[in-house]
Amino acid sequence: MLNVAMLGASGRMGRAIVPLLAEAADLRLSGALAAPGDPALGQDVGLLAGIPALAVTVTADPATALAGAQVAIDFTLPAISASNARLCGGLGCALVVGTTGHDAAQREELELAAREIPLVLAPNMSLGVNLLIRLAELAARALDEQYDIEIFDAHHRNKVDAPSGTALGLGAAAARGRGTTLESVAEYARHGHTGVRDRGQIGFSVLRGGDIVGEHRLVFAGPGEQVELVHTAQDRSGFARGALVATRWVAGRPPGLYSMLDVLGL
Ligand SMILES: NC(=O)c1ccc[n+]([C@@H]2O[C@H](COP(=O)([O-])OP(=O)(O)OC[C@H]3O[C@@H](n4cnc5c(N)ncnc54)[C@H](OP(=O)(O)O)[C@@H]3O)[C@@H](O)[C@H]2O)c1
Repeated sequence: MLNVAMLGASGRMGRAIVPLLAEAADLRLSGALAAPGDPALGQDVGLLAGIPALAVTVTADPATALAGAQVAIDFTLPAISASNARLCGGLGCALVVGTTGHDAAQREELELAAREIPLVLAPNMSLGVNLLIRLAELAARALDEQYDIEIFDAHHRNKVDAPSGTALGLGAAAARGRGTTLESVAEYARHGHTGVRDRGQIGFSVLRGGDIVGEHRLVFAGPGEQVELVHTAQDRSGFARGALVATRWVAGRPPGLYSMLDVLGL
């Protein structure tokens, strides 16, 4: 049995993951963390997720939530996941980070923790999206700069980062396929008289609204034809299942920073 702590237990992803953890024969939910002041504090995490009680109380104290855990799953906020990583590093608790939108300093915290513990960092944990990332690199290598690359992502109105971590991951994969880096070819905003599109540019466009779970579209617009790679998440179950695949995979690994492509052997 693997003891697993859920960090961000009261969030959309936390509530999608807890029931899967509860029904897993090889995983035991050993701790649940939410924000100070969260109305979920003191509640049973099972009841919070709409399933029978699990005798695990939601706490705002990270040390309590991590007590006895061998792996922690983090779906919180960038700053919070960076401090959770520091804690896990000190405790020797492996970590799966699904949180997106880290800045350079927070990213460095995760890299530092990964010197102590195995840490999976993945902006999208779904099997389908990670396959799409592999296909993006393949397609960008095959289709030269005659094909203009554009990436579109659509998400719910409460998403706080744009473009999504997944859209940036698709852009980085396409840039790798073209033998360059995303930083040197990305175009994040267009407005007014833009002039003609630069060859080799990778353009981004974003939709935020309603309760859209997540849609990603990668377009190769070429002379006389267009190729599109599309992924649509109908609900959060694909991300949640992926988080558990990563949890089982990371336990007992040597320290290091791993991606979902490592986990899925892609
Ligand atoms: N990798 C993937 O596959 C994937 C999939 C979906 C989402 N995500 C990312 O995962 C993150 C969470 O997404 P979500 O939709 O679950 O968001 P959410 O519903 O806002 O959940 C975030 C949770 O973190 C909690 N939190 C905030 N501060 C905290 C603290 N100091 N200690 C402990 N918990 C704290 C929040 O509590 P309060 O509500 O009390 O503030 C909330 O429960 C986002 O970065 C999102 O982009 C990744």
